[in-house]
Amino acid sequence: MKAKLIQATWMIVMVGLGVGLHAGYQDYGGRDLLESFQLEAARKKTSERSILPASLPRPELPVEKVVPPRTNATTIEGLSLYPKVVVGGRTPLDLWAYYGRGASSFSSPTLPMRFEEWLDFHRAQQPGLMKDVREHMASRYDFTPAILPKAFMSGGKPIMAGPAARLPKDLASWEELADLTPAEIRERDVFPFKPLAHPLQSTAHMVFPDSWIAIHPEHTRIDVGFDIPEPFLPEFPPPMYLTTHKEMGDVTNGQELTFENYYQIFDGLLTPEQMEGLKELLQPSPSLWFNQTDHRLTEEPSSGIACFDCHVNGHTNGAFDLAPDSRPNMARLRVDTPSLRGNYNLMQFSTKRSIRSLNHFAGVGEFFGGDPGMQQAIGSRGASRSALNGISEFNAILDYPPAPKLTPLGLLDPDLASKSELRGEQIFYGEGRCVQCHYGPAFVDDYMHDLQVERFYVGRPEGPIKTSPLRGIKDTPPYLHDGRLMTLDDAVEFFNLILQLQLSRQDKQDLRAYLLTL
Ligand code: HEC
Ligand code: HEC
Repeated sequence: MKAKLIQATWMIVMVGLGVGLHAGYQDYGGRDLLESFQLEAARKKTSERSILPASLPRPELPVEKVVPPRTNATTIEGLSLYPKVVVGGRTPLDLWAYYGRGASSFSSPTLPMRFEEWLDFHRAQQPGLMKDVREHMASRYDFTPAILPKAFMSGGKPIMAGPAARLPKDLASWEELADLTPAEIRERDVFPFKPLAHPLQSTAHMVFPDSWIAIHPEHTRIDVGFDIPEPFLPEFPPPMYLTTHKEMGDVTNGQELTFENYYQIFDGLLTPEQMEGLKELLQPSPSLWFNQTDHRLTEEPSSGIACFDCHVNGHTNGAFDLAPDSRPNMARLRVDTPSLRGNYNLMQFSTKRSIRSLNHFAGVGEFFGGDPGMQQAIGSRGASRSALNGISEFNAILDYPPAPKLTPLGLLDPDLASKSELRGEQIFYGEGRCVQCHYGPAFVDDYMHDLQVERFYVGRPEGPIKTSPLRGIKDTPPYLHDGRLMTLDDAVEFFNLILQLQLSRQDKQDLRAYLLTL
């Protein structure tokens, strides 16, 4: 009798707990794949705009009321909860204005529909999506290429003049904008440098620029295309400089390094361990959405992606992805591929994760967007410890491009530098305050800083972000972690605003001239 009573009590407790958990789950602002899929189908039953192919099953489900999740209510007024989106479905381009939490930290290697339907879904969605993305970008940036006279990247590509970001209509000049306080800029909604989102944040993953796709058509995505024009990207293929062979200049002779040609080029120049590392960097392996399974964004299956498919020649082709370190996907920051040049001098890797060693970085399962669970279906990269060591060995000899005007102290040689460059250097070390975070041989302090950019617009804060080195900066447009600053002029205007420097037009030109010498 007593045992029965205990059993009954237990059952009541367990059922209660189950209902409680379930209710909590229903309250989430974000949602998982299946749930979103069903909800979207149900939502459409209420005769709203359809984004799912008609052939899909439409389970009868009540539409969930969106309520702020209990555990992460925001302190910022004006943010909205992330909308309900199916995997692969369109996401807002102003994602900075949303918040919320996902139903789960884990994703699934199973598509929400059959692969053929998935292809059709994206064939139907892609043109409209990319049209909207291009319009959005054109509304934010003037991409008419204006070349800076006599300014070239290390391999000879012309450098664009800016700012490319559009000045809001009711402002006469950048100086007038900089006269406003952060609160005024926020109130009038005139901040030109809001974050950039991935065009399709619901699947996200790497997007390659057109110059890369032209040579590597196997990386053409069915769902999205690139959204920044070629003149505003790094040169391709970029030169490669080695700390161990400074006398040789560009060791690639203008070629793109591939698995097929690397051995010919480097045999007798590298140590066996560096050679092994280079091989690893050029060897494709399956990634989250580029692989042999149906969980992919290419028409044909492929063997995947190599490190140097983004970090081409140890530099960057401007491919972008999402930082792996947050959930839901819609909260992940867009990240522009950084150059690996000069990594030997960095103490901190990755925009947000503050990874402290090259070995650690190479080993964190980068290709799975921070979701090792996906390896079950796709297969792991399986890099051995010696492979990781090799990658780091090679990574550690990638040098910055020459900066012939800098002395061993990292200062401009007055005999070689122009007046404007020298004035720019003074501003960098003086009223520009740049040196406070950008110093040393790579012009980086190796700290993370919270620039509090959200002071200038209603948006979710991006939090502390690692300082970027400025050595070789002319070779790596676009700038900032998400590439929202298309030119060095944009970067100068950005910091002029963020740090409230109120530099004159001449000061800003001189500062840009200086940055080009680094
Ligand atoms: C999408 C193309 C892409 C591929 C492929 C790729 N990376 Fe990256 N890499 C990035 C992006 C984007 C970042 C910036 C990540 C961040 O900020 O969180 C990055 C950051 C890094 C960094 C840190 C650099 C810094 O300045 O903080 C290292 C080191 C690196 N990658 C090495 C590798 C290695 C090794 C591989 C192969 C295992 C690889 N990457 C493959 C795009 C790529
Ligand atoms: C308080 C520290 C701090 C100061 C002062 C500062 N920066 Fe930065 N800088 C950063 C951080 C942090 C980033 C990376 C931010 C991000 O990616 O969101 C950065 C990034 C940059 C970039 C983009 C680099 C790239 O590869 O994308 C440029 C250019 C730059 N800074 C120039 C300047 C100039 C010029 C000044 C002075 C007018 C300056 N910075 C002052 C911290 C600082």
